[in-house]
Amino acid sequence: MLPNILPTSNADHVPVLAAEVRELLGVQPGETVVDATFGAGGHASLLAEDLAGRGKLVAIDRDPGAKSYFDRFKARAGIDVRFLRGDFAIVLAQLAANGIKADAILLDLGISSMQVDRPERGFSYATDAPLDMRMDPSSETTAAAIVNTWDERELVSVFRRYGEERYAAPIARAIVRRRAERPFTRTGDLVDVIKRAIPTPARFGEGHPARRVFQALRIAVNDELGQLEAALPAALEMLRPGGRLAVISFHSLEDRIVKRFFAEQAKGCTCPPEFPICICGQEPTLRLLSRKPVRPSADETEHNPRATSARLRAAVRA
Ligand SMILES: C[S@@+](CC[C@H](N)C(=O)[O-])C[C@H]1O[C@@H](n2cnc3c(N)ncnc32)[C@H](O)[C@@H]1O
Repeated sequence: MLPNILPTSNADHVPVLAAEVRELLGVQPGETVVDATFGAGGHASLLAEDLAGRGKLVAIDRDPGAKSYFDRFKARAGIDVRFLRGDFAIVLAQLAANGIKADAILLDLGISSMQVDRPERGFSYATDAPLDMRMDPSSETTAAAIVNTWDERELVSVFRRYGEERYAAPIARAIVRRRAERPFTRTGDLVDVIKRAIPTPARFGEGHPARRVFQALRIAVNDELGQLEAALPAALEMLRPGGRLAVISFHSLEDRIVKRFFAEQAKGCTCPPEFPICICGQEPTLRLLSRKPVRPSADETEHNPRATSARLRAAVRA
């Protein structure tokens, strides 16, 4: 196993769609910014630059490993900064409940390259490691717990829904058969079982044969979609009128949640479509900053392949 070494500077992480996030969030000196997915602080560093020495930045991350990046960021940020460790759905709701207001909120979803690059976290199918995948190592459910205890039908559904895995059924069947003999503890064991469960030609198809199952397990372990569903209304509640919310997603299921939420809030009225006139009187709470999601340029994806599936949506509080 590789040693657990943290990169020496935040420059090792390349923030995705950085210029576009900066432009859409339009942070001004003196404002309050919430980076709800601080990671290595790549976006936060740029947003702090836009605050130009005046304002506040609240950083949230559920991974305690983000704290060391935050400490380095704090040392040179030149503004009032604060780190809150926890799930963004919970932290944003607590901040909103305490009447804290923000002018700009960013969610850059998924895992950071630092998490993938640390094999002992078990996110990667490329290195043999404990089958973990928790962003927050103190949370209960690990990937091993899911593959060892969830019933076959649940596994099929997770692999299909979150991983769009064509061979979800044979993979789940092979997992259940193998765990009856010996429970899974390592990523390497799982990769072997997946490889043997799918037809030979598919092993050499698009990408690594375990990529989709690993993605599905990661989403399930970290309840990524549930977190997003709960975080969006909390973020909206925190925004001052004129405040901006930007969300970068890397998966169509995440993007669909953001798209729907933004569309509902931009519409306002919740009356059934068959009503001839509006009786609910609900006003729109968001105005979309772009109709279509913003995608990375060819130049960005060439230099940072992680950006390839990124979609950015942004809206302003009405
Ligand atoms: C894609 S990275 C963010 C990278 C960051 N924008 C940068 O430029 O360095 C996502 C980060 O969000 C954190 N994260 C993901 N889901 C979270 C959640 N529900 N609550 C809190 N943090 C979360 C992860 O631990 C990870 O560090």
